Amino acid sequence: MCGCGGLRWGWGHSAPSPMLLLSLLLSSAPFGLLGEETRQVSLEVIPDQSGPTGNLLHIRAVGANSTLHYVWSSLGPPAVLLVATNTPNSVLSVNWSLLLSPEPNGGLMVLPRDSVQFSSGLIFTRLLEFDSTNVSDAAAEPPGRPYPPYLLAEFSWNNITDTLDLATLSATFQGHPTWDPTKAFANGSLAFRVQAFSRSGRPARPPRLLHTADSCQLEVSLAGASSRGNRSLFGLEVATVGQGLDCPSAREQHSIDDEYAPAVFQLDQLLWGPVPSGFVQWRPVAFSQKQGGRDSSLPCQASPLHPTLAYSLPKSPIIRAFFGSQSNLCAFNLTFGASTGPGYWDQNYLSWSMLLGVGAPPVDTLSPLILGIMAAALGAPGLMLLGGALVLLLHHKRSSEYQSIN
Ligand SMILES: *[C@@H]1O[C@H](CO)[C@@H](O)[C@H](O)[C@H]1NC(C)=O
Ligand SMILES: *[C@@H]1O[C@H](CO)[C@@H](O)[C@H](O)[C@H]1NC(C)=O
Ligand SMILES: *[C@@H]1O[C@H](CO)[C@@H](O)[C@H](O)[C@H]1NC(C)=O
Ligand SMILES: *[C@@H]1O[C@H](CO)[C@@H](O)[C@H](O)[C@H]1NC(C)=O
Ligand SMILES: *[C@@H]1O[C@H](CO)[C@@H](O)[C@H](O)[C@H]1NC(C)=O
Ligand SMILES: *[C@@H]1O[C@H](CO)[C@@H](O)[C@H](O)[C@H]1NC(C)=O
Ligand SMILES: *[C@@H]1O[C@H](CO)[C@@H](O)[C@H](O)[C@H]1NC(C)=O
Repeated sequence: MCGCGGLRWGWGHSAPSPMLLLSLLLSSAPFGLLGEETRQVSLEVIPDQSGPTGNLLHIRAVGANSTLHYVWSSLGPPAVLLVATNTPNSVLSVNWSLLLSPEPNGGLMVLPRDSVQFSSGLIFTRLLEFDSTNVSDAAAEPPGRPYPPYLLAEFSWNNITDTLDLATLSATFQGHPTWDPTKAFANGSLAFRVQAFSRSGRPARPPRLLHTADSCQLEVSLAGASSRGNRSLFGLEVATVGQGLDCPSAREQHSIDDEYAPAVFQLDQLLWGPVPSGFVQWRPVAFSQKQGGRDSSLPCQASPLHPTLAYSLPKSPIIRAFFGSQSNLCAFNLTFGASTGPGYWDQNYLSWSMLLGVGAPPVDTLSPLILGIMAAALGAPGLMLLGGALVLLLHHKRSSEYQSIN
């Protein structure tokens, strides 16, 4: 993904070098850099007055000087639109008849239009499945012989209203293929659980991604579906949408700290804009059990991001309604697991999580455990020196890095 041979699994890496340690310290900025520390979050299902057609979930996260709008939908392939405005009063306007028409341009708007500071989107186009039986190289690309993919635009989805949980600010899109001749999904489903946050924190479930009020989490899980081979690996094709001409840039962030996600020393991220104005972030790990322990962790590989023509992807009405023909699409594949080690076959279960947000992605500060170990190793004078350097750097970052929103 970084142009140097794909993303690699952090497992089995030797102890971090002093250089890595130092660069980490220098890049560990506190999340106070982000736009708003707390937001008033509301979730609303927007009904189509003319009849039940598809799910449209609007998450509105209002801060002192800005509003984030996330629109999640299962009209067409599952997709999300993220729009950030510089006012606490912006609203989403939906014209269903336009949205469902062949030319949905203008069917979704965030008003006032000139308050929009940033917009982007993601489309989840296909669930991939590979036969990894004869593959010995864990990093092979593709990771096996591909089976025909499942088109997510041809899934039928539950009524999102029934899964709305205002206590956790979450909702779940659960679906299965509309046409399923082999009954692979007779007892299974693919689920997209989305969750918004009113402040920063870390969920209880691995990989325990650090979130802020400027981000929202997606957990994708495949459960109970029969695979077509004994050693099937699954994957997800994802398209990114933005207004600039370039694809978001892919960046790996390394960490010596794996307290929250055992044996994973890496964060993968896609950044929109030259100054990070929006991001997608994940740890390159998936889980083959609900508890998500170390024993059930699978590597997650991402292919490089490439520009894609709109007609080669299934159409997403919400993306077209907001962006019109002005959007720029790029696509990549995520694959979960390797032919050796744990896999979907263990329990017919797989889950993977990511964050989507505005501004620069949250960065883990070193955990108390690691700080303790370092304090013991470096002694007080070393720490004070490092601390001084950190303060200087953070000050510099604060004044230079974050300008896009508010
Ligand atoms: C979902 O359920 C709500 C109430 O339970 C209902 O009003 C709405 O029409 C349903 N939507 C769809 C798409 O079926
Ligand atoms: C909101 O904007 C006002 C005026 O522009 C500014 O004084 C204030 O610090 C801003 N608040 C936040 C939380 O950014
Ligand atoms: C929705 O769009 C259609 C087609 O442009 C238009 O005729 C209609 O008035 C719009 N509806 C609303 C409520 O704005
Ligand atoms: C795997 O390799 C063996 C021996 O080369 C071959 O007989 C078998 O058909 C292959 N299986 C698949 C699924 O490609
Ligand atoms: C689905 O579950 C039922 C009951 O547990 C079982 O009888 C059936 O064989 C399962 N179907 C498939 C396709 O796995
Ligand atoms: C799966 O494994 C069983 C038993 O090991 C074997 O009989 C069957 O041929 C395998 N199926 C495939 C598709 O490889
Ligand atoms: C994802 O993988 C599938 C199967 O190998 C392939 O057909 C498709 O072109 C890939 N998509 C991207 C964006 O690389």
